[in-house]
Amino acid sequence: MTFFDVKNLTVKFGGLTAVDDVSFGLNEGEVFTIIGPNGAGKTTLFNLISRLYTPSAGQIIFRGEDVTRLSAQQIAGRGIARTFQNIELFESASTLQNLLVGRHRHSTTRPWQDILRTKKVREEEVAHRRAAEEVMDVLRLQRYRDTTIGALPYGVRKVIEVARALCVGPTLLLLDEPSSGLNVEETNAMAEWILEINRRLRVTVLMVEHDMSLVSRVSDRVLALNYGKMMAIGTSAEVQGHPDVIAAYLGA
Ligand SMILES: Nc1ncnc2c1ncn2[C@@H]1O[C@H](COP(=O)(O)OP(=O)(O)OP(=O)(O)O)[C@@H](O)[C@H]1O
Ligand SMILES: [Mg+2]
Repeated sequence: MTFFDVKNLTVKFGGLTAVDDVSFGLNEGEVFTIIGPNGAGKTTLFNLISRLYTPSAGQIIFRGEDVTRLSAQQIAGRGIARTFQNIELFESASTLQNLLVGRHRHSTTRPWQDILRTKKVREEEVAHRRAAEEVMDVLRLQRYRDTTIGALPYGVRKVIEVARALCVGPTLLLLDEPSSGLNVEETNAMAEWILEINRRLRVTVLMVEHDMSLVSRVSDRVLALNYGKMMAIGTSAEVQGHPDVIAAYLGA
């Protein structure tokens, strides 16, 4: 059984086919990266997988289950988490508070139990906090634990955005341009975090990325998209050297 499969996935917005008959599979434990010029359909593909958009055609299979018609919340519940191309953290809340929001799906209690503050609620709160603390330990965020997001540099916020996604305990993590807006030093640090998450936490990673040095460093395989269509799939070097890929980037 393959870990994750996208089969003939397609979405149309009016006359535009933003994702056009895309098929690929992920092996458990790999880092798989999607590249392509602006507007190629990369974020749209993530929006289909995380079920913010509904596919016009095709299937998404996760660990043998057809998840194409599940809700976004159910997808998160299956262990698929994501980050956004533009950081979406609560600016006026602390790092810890933002991470506790990320844990929400693990809550099994009912609202009336919250009101009564049952033992179960207290136990869950302790478990949530422990998971957030562990993620902060792994990504070395403890020093920013109680700092308001708005007061932190952009590079740190990008790591917190990844941390928040990790707090739901995913087995598949979708990262949309983890290096965007980062300088060379911060991009190198992000590459290390991605490898750490992949190898130490054993999370399979599906990433969209423009920085080719980062792509080459962390990716097991790469898929290039253009105008919603698959151009090439293979190792980073194979895809970057593919004539269609070179032409697409020169054209862009
Ligand atoms: N909700 C939507 N309604 C209409 N068109 C959309 C919608 N979402 C995306 N598109 C269009 O789909 C195409 C692909 O957009 P997408 O954001 O997936 O590109 P991308 O590969 O992520 O680009 P970038 O590298 O700039 O982030 C674009 O032409 C975009 O305008
Ligand atoms: Mg995008």
